[in-house]
Amino acid sequence: MQNKVAVVTGGASGIGRAVAEKLASVGCKVVIADFNPETGSVAAEQIGASFVQADLSDAEQCRSVIAQAAELHGSVDILVNNAGFQHISPIEEFPVEQWNKLIGVMLTAPFLLMRYAWPMMKQNGWGRVINIASVHAMVASPFKAGYISAKHGVIGLTKTAALEGGEFGITVNAICPAYVRTPLVENQIADQARTRGIREDQVVTDVMLKNAAIKKLIEPEEVANLVAFLASDQASSITGSSLTIDSGWTAQ
Ligand SMILES: NC(=O)c1ccc[n+]([C@@H]2O[C@H](COP(=O)([O-])OP(=O)(O)OC[C@H]3O[C@@H](n4cnc5c(N)ncnc54)[C@H](O)[C@@H]3O)[C@@H](O)[C@H]2O)c1
Repeated sequence: MQNKVAVVTGGASGIGRAVAEKLASVGCKVVIADFNPETGSVAAEQIGASFVQADLSDAEQCRSVIAQAAELHGSVDILVNNAGFQHISPIEEFPVEQWNKLIGVMLTAPFLLMRYAWPMMKQNGWGRVINIASVHAMVASPFKAGYISAKHGVIGLTKTAALEGGEFGITVNAICPAYVRTPLVENQIADQARTRGIREDQVVTDVMLKNAAIKKLIEPEEVANLVAFLASDQASSITGSSLTIDSGWTAQ
C-alpha cells in the first residue's frame, strides 16, 4: 500500500485515529478529516499525516475534504468513513436536529465523500471504501433511533456502491464492531445510566457486554487491522460485505 492516499474521517480520536496510524505505518499517505482542530492536528502530527478540519454534516465541506486531499497528494485511493457520534434518547423525546445530524454525519457524508472520490478511483482502476458501521447496523438497541437508522442505512450504501464499483477495481465494505474502548463509548456510559436508571458499572456489564460471548471491550487497533486488510490487494475479492468484530454478539 506504499503511497496510496487514504482519507480517514474522524481520524482525530478513537477508532479513526488507530486506523490513520495503521495505514500510515503500512506506507499510506494519510489525510485525517475531523471536526476537532486541536485533537486533529495533534494526531496528524504524531502520525505523520495531514489534517483537514471539516464538519462533515455540511455537504460543501465534504466536497472540500476530497478536493484538499487530491490537491495535497494527487488522488484519493482509500476512503475510510469513520466519523460519528451518538445521541441517547427515547423516541418521544428524540430531538429532530440530533436525528438530522446523525443521518448527516453517518449516512449522507459517507455518500458524498464516496461520490466525490469515486471518479479518481475509477480513473485509477483501483479504490477502497471502508465504512465503519456498527453492530447496530445489524441489530437494534433502545434509545438510539438516529444512530441505528444511520448505521443500517450505510449497509445499503455499501452494497449498492460495491455493485457499481466492481468493474472498476473499487471495493466497498463495512465493518461492524460492538463496543470499542474509545471516548465515544466512555462518554455514553453516564448517558445510558441516566436514561436506563442504572449505575454506570452496570451499563458496561449489563448493557454493553450483555450480548457478547467475549466479555471485554474491543480495542481500536483490532478494527484498524481489519481496515488495513480490506484496503490491501489481498482483499481484492471482498466487496459488499459487512464484517462483524462483535465478540459474538450477533451469533445468537
Ligand atoms: N466505540 C464503539 O464502541 C463503536 C462501535 C461501533 C461503531 N463505532 C463507530 O466507529 C466510529 C468512530 O467512533 P469512536 O468510538 O472512535 O468515536 P470517537 O468519539 O472517539 O471519535 C469520533 C471522531 O469523529 C469526529 N466527528 C464527529 N462528528 C463529526 C463531524 N460532524 N465532522 C467531522 N468529524 C466528526 C470527532 O471529532 C471524533 O474525532 C463511529 O462512526 C462510531 O459510530 C464505534
